[in-house]
Amino acid sequence: MLQLPKVIGHRGAAAYALENTLESFREARRRGATWVEIDVKLTADNVPILMHDASLKRTMGIDRLVAETRAADLPREVPTFEAAIDCFRELGLGCNVEIKPCEGREVETARVAVETLRRQWPATLPAPLLSSFKDTSLSAARDAAPEFARAILIDEIANDWRARAEAVGAVGVNTNGKRLTVPRAVEIRKAGYLLSVYTINDGEVARLLMGLGVQCVISDAPDVILSALN
Ligand code: G3P
Ligand code: MG
Repeated sequence: MLQLPKVIGHRGAAAYALENTLESFREARRRGATWVEIDVKLTADNVPILMHDASLKRTMGIDRLVAETRAADLPREVPTFEAAIDCFRELGLGCNVEIKPCEGREVETARVAVETLRRQWPATLPAPLLSSFKDTSLSAARDAAPEFARAILIDEIANDWRARAEAVGAVGVNTNGKRLTVPRAVEIRKAGYLLSVYTINDGEVARLLMGLGVQCVISDAPDVILSALN
């Protein structure tokens, strides 16, 4: 059974360092996180890399789509998924791998991500958790590598959440903590699913959510949440 920590650093420690970079993972570790969440997508030449947005504009200042950029042409700060895994090995970090495909690349992104995990994920680290807003990505991940646990990502939970979770064989639900209602939290926990919330940066809110049965809080400031929970 997948063991999730109480706190996962969002995109590393996005409150303190440039998100989805090796420096952000080091910062998360320094601030006490034992796991981080990352966003994985493919370059034009099918290399899995870490980037949240479709474009490089917001984080790198380059007005260009990841889907149209070759890996060799990316700025040095953008890590490949492989480089990120090497960094996790060095730091002893677990990982929630969010599959964040460029449009139309849902299946291949999932396949490449799980192939990379199979090849590279260190046996010394806790097993990773895959998640995605795209059910097609989660289905493709399940078909290619069923051994990796999956969580559906939902911004606002609707009545079909359980059908979606069952369809992709998910063990967890990762949802927007600011939109989670008490009845939904109870329903999900009663149904036996792991429940994680993003992106919570306030310690008191994290404590309240944990009181509702949430097991894991994904935060830009993992140190803030850890000190509120301890
Ligand atoms: O995986 C949790 C969270 O990162 C999902 O939303 O947009 O921050 O990737 P987003
Ligand atoms: Mg994410």
